[in-house]
Amino acid sequence: MQDLSLHILDVVENSIKAKANRIEIRLRDDAARDQITLEIVDDGVGMDAETVQKALDPFFSTKETRSIGLGLPLLAAAARAANGDFSIESRPGKGTQVTATFQAGHIDMKPLGDIAQTVVTLIMGHPDVDILYSHHIDQAHYSLDTKEIKTHLNGVSIASPEIICFIRDHIKEGLDNLRRPT
Ligand SMILES: Nc1ncnc2c1ncn2[C@@H]1O[C@H](COP(=O)(O)OP(=O)(O)OP(=O)(O)O)[C@@H](O)[C@H]1O
Ligand SMILES: [Mg+2]
Repeated sequence: MQDLSLHILDVVENSIKAKANRIEIRLRDDAARDQITLEIVDDGVGMDAETVQKALDPFFSTKETRSIGLGLPLLAAAARAANGDFSIESRPGKGTQVTATFQAGHIDMKPLGDIAQTVVTLIMGHPDVDILYSHHIDQAHYSLDTKEIKTHLNGVSIASPEIICFIRDHIKEGLDNLRRPT
């Protein structure tokens, strides 16, 4: 996978398969520590300890169509390749948190890629799931919560083209503002 956004798309699809109603995608860029942290938190069905162990194994998957599940092992490999770390915390009936850290300046650090597109792809595919995207760059912070947006839509679908364009632009502008040196 070329960039972090595609890993995020893939790992969030796990949360959706796990029947999550709310999924948080949290990114933190800490320049002083040269570290990027990604957390994906869901309130889905969760996993017991044994399933968590197996989920880290590329030859395990609960999918019946094929026996190789690569989403989590690939993100773990990307984190470790960039001198980072990877962990999964999960509780059956509660939900799951996937955490990956990266050394931001590492030569093998993947670029973030088009996170705005990733978020709108998820919204279009799963309009009923609430998605919170939050991004800290040092002291600055951007966040978008579809639950909050839905309260303003007066029955218009969050997946309608106008709203999707609005959300995509909102994220792009929000991130541009975060990255602009102050
Ligand atoms: N958020 C989650 N909640 C509950 N179970 C999960 C979650 N994420 C992963 N799992 C479990 O771990 C397994 C492995 O996940 P992984 O993403 O590595 O592979 P996959 O989803 O099965 O296949 P692929 O991602 O390659 O299409 C899943 O099949 C599922 O059983
Ligand atoms: Mg998967």
